[in-house]
Amino acid sequence: MKNVLVTGGAGFIGSNFVRYLLEVDSRVQIVNLDALTYAGSLENLKDLPDAKRHIFVQGDICDRELVPTLLHQHQIDTIVHFAAETHVDRSILGPEPFIKTNVFGTFNLLEAARQVWLAEKSLPLEQVRFHHVSTDEVYGTLKPNDPAFSETTPYAPNSPYAASKAASDHLARSYHHTYEVPVTISNCSNNYGPRQFPEKLIPLVILNALSGKPLPVYGDGQQIRDWLYVADHCEAIYLILTKGGPGETYNVGGNNQPPNLTIIETICDLLDEIRPQTQSRRKLIQFVTDRPGHDRRYAMNISKIERDLDWSPRHNLTDGLLETVQWILANPQWVAAIQTQREYQTWLTKNYEKREKSS
Ligand code: NAD
Ligand code: TYD
Repeated sequence: MKNVLVTGGAGFIGSNFVRYLLEVDSRVQIVNLDALTYAGSLENLKDLPDAKRHIFVQGDICDRELVPTLLHQHQIDTIVHFAAETHVDRSILGPEPFIKTNVFGTFNLLEAARQVWLAEKSLPLEQVRFHHVSTDEVYGTLKPNDPAFSETTPYAPNSPYAASKAASDHLARSYHHTYEVPVTISNCSNNYGPRQFPEKLIPLVILNALSGKPLPVYGDGQQIRDWLYVADHCEAIYLILTKGGPGETYNVGGNNQPPNLTIIETICDLLDEIRPQTQSRRKLIQFVTDRPGHDRRYAMNISKIERDLDWSPRHNLTDGLLETVQWILANPQWVAAIQTQREYQTWLTKNYEKREKSS
């Protein structure tokens, strides 16, 4: 791995991965292709370690000319594909960009890899790799006593977001099976940590709680996610790239599965401790109309990656939430850049205004 194309590297996980890769591997050069949608920001790429090994290109993964040009120009041997539309609630209110970016964009990247690496034989096949970053949401939802998702659980996506990611996973798998593009796939559970866009539960609750705004709980708040600290996800991806076999899929998860309401209460308690005030922030919790088709429970069986790549999550939820809160408090300029974005305020109104409230 010498010349790495990271897609979506100005977003949450992508920017954490760019930082991680520059730190752990002094040989790599990174080309970061990102369209800078509402979710991407150059703020996320400030103060990179050894920034001279990082080139930022603003562009769309759906661009049929740009992607092969970048592969040629930079002799790309590794693609790590994060770029996507990622928010379930947005996919419910407007699915089209999800199909464009997640399905067509992934297809365009795979096609470019096939063209340049296989048809033109730009590099020996054993030196190239396409890693596709995906989600546990492709597996659908679990009942309380169902076993956790494994790599062989049948796909049953329930939201337009999950369906678009499932489609992209199938394309990635097929390019390995049919054309022998050296593809790996990771399906990871919910991430949290520094630089997560505050439309997602954890940063939304932290920012709302800090400014005394209501903390919206969808439905009864008893839905379960398998939370993973973002740095642990980055480490898993690096291990898959360096030790994982072409054609393999790995499930990645955090072994942290409290209900949403417990997470929200924990954040309130943490903030009350760090920034005490007269009234507990738990008072801000507000139950609101549920998300349509809301998946009840996710849980990941991570025994394959533990066994084959010797990976396991390093952070528990208590440490990870504390680090996340501390990062947000230490980076007010990052918070201000998002909170003053008109698009973000419009989103908050669109998503929350019409939800009925109950206490
Ligand atoms: P994010 O929404 O924070 O960032 C997505 C990035 O992709 C943004 O920088 C955006 O500008 C860029 N982008 C969007 N459309 C693009 C396009 N057409 N061309 C180029 N760039 C484009 O997302 P994230 O949370 O960092 O997720 C990254 C990846 O990880 C996604 O593929 C997602 O499905 C997957 N994933 C996320 C989670 C999670 O909890 N966040 C969990 C598992 C898997
Ligand atoms: P989210 O962060 O949007 O991730 P995902 O939908 O990919 O799991 O949501 C995490 C959980 O939190 C999910 O069960 C929905 C719930 N949720 C709320 O209860 N309130 C909110 O305001 C948001 C954004 C999410």
